[in-house]
Amino acid sequence: MLYRAEPRSDKNAAYSLGFRVPQEADFEDLIPVKVGLKTQILPADEAAVAMAARCLTEGGLVAFPTETVYGLGADAARAPAVARLYEAKGRPSFNPLIAHVADIAAARQIARFDRTALKLAEAFWPGPLTLVLPKTARCPVAELATAGLDTVAIRIPAHPITKALLRAFGGAVVAPSANLSGHVSPTTAAHVAGDLTGRIDLILDGGAVAVGIESTILACLDEPMLLRPGGLPREEIERVLGHALQRPPEDAVTDNAQPLAPGMLASHYAPRTPVRLNASHVEPDEALLAFGHAAPEGAHAAKAVMNLSETGDLGEAAANLFGYLRILDAESARAIAVMGVPHHGLGEAINDRLRRAAMGR
Ligand code: TXA
Ligand code: MG
Repeated sequence: MLYRAEPRSDKNAAYSLGFRVPQEADFEDLIPVKVGLKTQILPADEAAVAMAARCLTEGGLVAFPTETVYGLGADAARAPAVARLYEAKGRPSFNPLIAHVADIAAARQIARFDRTALKLAEAFWPGPLTLVLPKTARCPVAELATAGLDTVAIRIPAHPITKALLRAFGGAVVAPSANLSGHVSPTTAAHVAGDLTGRIDLILDGGAVAVGIESTILACLDEPMLLRPGGLPREEIERVLGHALQRPPEDAVTDNAQPLAPGMLASHYAPRTPVRLNASHVEPDEALLAFGHAAPEGAHAAKAVMNLSETGDLGEAAANLFGYLRILDAESARAIAVMGVPHHGLGEAINDRLRRAAMGR
């Protein structure tokens, strides 16, 4: 068996989301994976982008930079390519993917936009916003990629390399973050290579990404609802809408609840080292993930220290977050102590990822 996809027959709207509650076994019983592919890593110049587009056309798997994090792309319309993608990531099959397209015209072939969705698309695309919308009748995205839902997640990325790749390929590309399922999202090509060498065909190296945290996901089915805080701060969306966004129910991100965006599984972003949040001091053998200029008690004895942003800049902190977690995770520390990060603007997404990291795997 290639994958364990179980498209559901009872199709729900996205935020009643027709996924069964994930079981512990889903994580232990990940998809069997063929390793041993020759994974090429190429600087993302014009020739490499053309090669990547061909590779996608042939059903291959290509990792590429977006402005948020590196994505692992497959032809959205080809179920076997999507199956390979789930397989390469070891991703639980109940977790649907984001379709990436080049422009609004392409987006409208896939999803139905109401007035609000159009307004948001015009305001924020291309950029780090994903909209969950009803599928069109002729939606070309494979059922496997949407986990059998009636809705589809879609975004137009802003990164010049992603745009060039989408233009050269000519269709929709589904792309989760280019890491093994459960690992921290990659912000450099080296992170991708560390997780996926031997499992995918090609990595386009476009350097470090700018935003560093995944896109904000908004369901636009009736009242817009924030499913995942991300690279576009909530406040900017609320400014365009002219009112506050509906919040998902409090228990949406606990392991026992039906996840809203299925990827909101509580322990999604987990380093191997335990993570201790809101640390005001550093304990023996701990590494420190700092924020701001003030050093907490015991910082001088920390096994390693990385500062998300000495000046307290949340954009800089978001861009550094996943890379620094990886660096500290490699220190064999007893735990990673994390200083508090303010909760406004990009801080909401940063705190969301940190909370998940702290829940372990
Ligand atoms: O910034 C990003 O969004 C990156 C780059 C590569 O574009 N992609 C990314 O994809 O973070 P991924 O697969 O790691 O996260 C996609 C999230 C998952 O939590 C998934 O459950 C949710 O989108 N999702 C996809 N389709 C959905 C749908 N129809 N309804 C609700 N949530 C959906
Ligand atoms: Mg991910």
